[in-house]
Amino acid sequence: MKPTEFAKRRKQLMRMMGRDAIAILPAAPIRKRNAGTEYPYRQDSDFQFLSGFPEPEAVAVLLPHRPEGEYILFVRDRDPTREMWDGLRAGPEGAVARYGADDAFPFADIDEILPGLLESRSRVYYTMGLHPEFDQRVIGWVNGLRAQAKHGMHTPQEFVALDHLLHDMRLYKSRDEIGVMRRAAAISVTAHQRAMRLSAPGVTEYQLAAEIVHEFHRNQGVSAYEPIVGGGANACILHYRENAQPLRDGDLVLIDAGCELDCYASDITRTFPVNGRFTPAQRALYEVVLAAQLAAIEQCRPGNHWNDPHDAAVRTITQGLVSLGFLSGKLSKLVKDGAYREWFMHRTGHWLGMDVHDVGDYKVGDAWRVLEPGMALTVEPGIYVAPGSRQAPKEFRGIGIRIEDDVVITRATPDVLTDGLVKDPDQIERFMAERR
Ligand code: GLY
Ligand code: MN
Ligand code: MN
Repeated sequence: MKPTEFAKRRKQLMRMMGRDAIAILPAAPIRKRNAGTEYPYRQDSDFQFLSGFPEPEAVAVLLPHRPEGEYILFVRDRDPTREMWDGLRAGPEGAVARYGADDAFPFADIDEILPGLLESRSRVYYTMGLHPEFDQRVIGWVNGLRAQAKHGMHTPQEFVALDHLLHDMRLYKSRDEIGVMRRAAAISVTAHQRAMRLSAPGVTEYQLAAEIVHEFHRNQGVSAYEPIVGGGANACILHYRENAQPLRDGDLVLIDAGCELDCYASDITRTFPVNGRFTPAQRALYEVVLAAQLAAIEQCRPGNHWNDPHDAAVRTITQGLVSLGFLSGKLSKLVKDGAYREWFMHRTGHWLGMDVHDVGDYKVGDAWRVLEPGMALTVEPGIYVAPGSRQAPKEFRGIGIRIEDDVVITRATPDVLTDGLVKDPDQIERFMAERR
């Protein structure tokens, strides 16, 4: 992402904040995993969106119209000993020179400097509750100012969560953001192809997961979320993450895995036969999910509502469940009664961006949001027939299928970022026949 893109975002946010406001955004904390080791560091998405600054122990402050500078970063000071152990730091100088801050100070000085910046502002944009330790510091600074109010000190009157402004900005992806998401999607496509090629009876779920993660890492990506690789009935566990079983001849395997590149996620699910050939029952159910997914993608057009793709998927799946003998009755009543929910129990998608379940409101007031160009979402209907699903015809029990693609709304047809990956059953069989 170019530095000008971050500068543009800060300007846009500051225009909306108004000149008497201040915004405070902390970097993500380092999270301990267990003794002696930490989770891989992932920057806070809001902080990253505005700063592009990759280090922990940092705070970004926006002060619209402040003559001495509108954008201040507090960052870890340079420290040869710490840098020898943990890696190089930008330091305040680097924060100005490389990350576009108007001014930067050592993080250790924040308690001295920040109250002075708060003092002259009437509105504070800060999202409480995300970083409890940092919340306490902010409260401490404000209380300190209040204690001095009797000496004529001006104190902020209003606290506002940043989410409303910032998350609406994040919902509309720029050309550069869509470019990064397209690259993340392309890596995920290759990763899923590798898993399809490796699949065979006796190969394990974790070996397919390893194949996928290998492709992410060799492209400098990470997993946007823990990969799900569920063979057979494991596919009916929506968040199955054990990935511990051998794959069996005659089963399907469901893989839900996506690469995160430069803090942008992709999110793909494919379900395919372990041995490369669908059984008639698997194919029949698969065709229903595929038809539902295509019908939902067709609804991803500007002017439609957020729920239109879901409604299309629900109708197609319910119709399919009737044809296959799961349900009987009038389609409209079955849809209204939610008769499909035993087998399709999740929504058809979510916003996609820096977070895999990205920010942005799904409703405005009581109404579903209208889709607009630049919004990115997943389309991922599924049918999951648990082994004990007594109302389901026997031949479908233990089959779980989901098909998930990443879609950007455009003025014209939906832009399917992940359409390089086969999903038609004949294409899947042909693709798998070419392996080894
Ligand atoms: N991989 C998480 C999801 O599909 O929502
Ligand atoms: Mn997914
Ligand atoms: Mn998803």
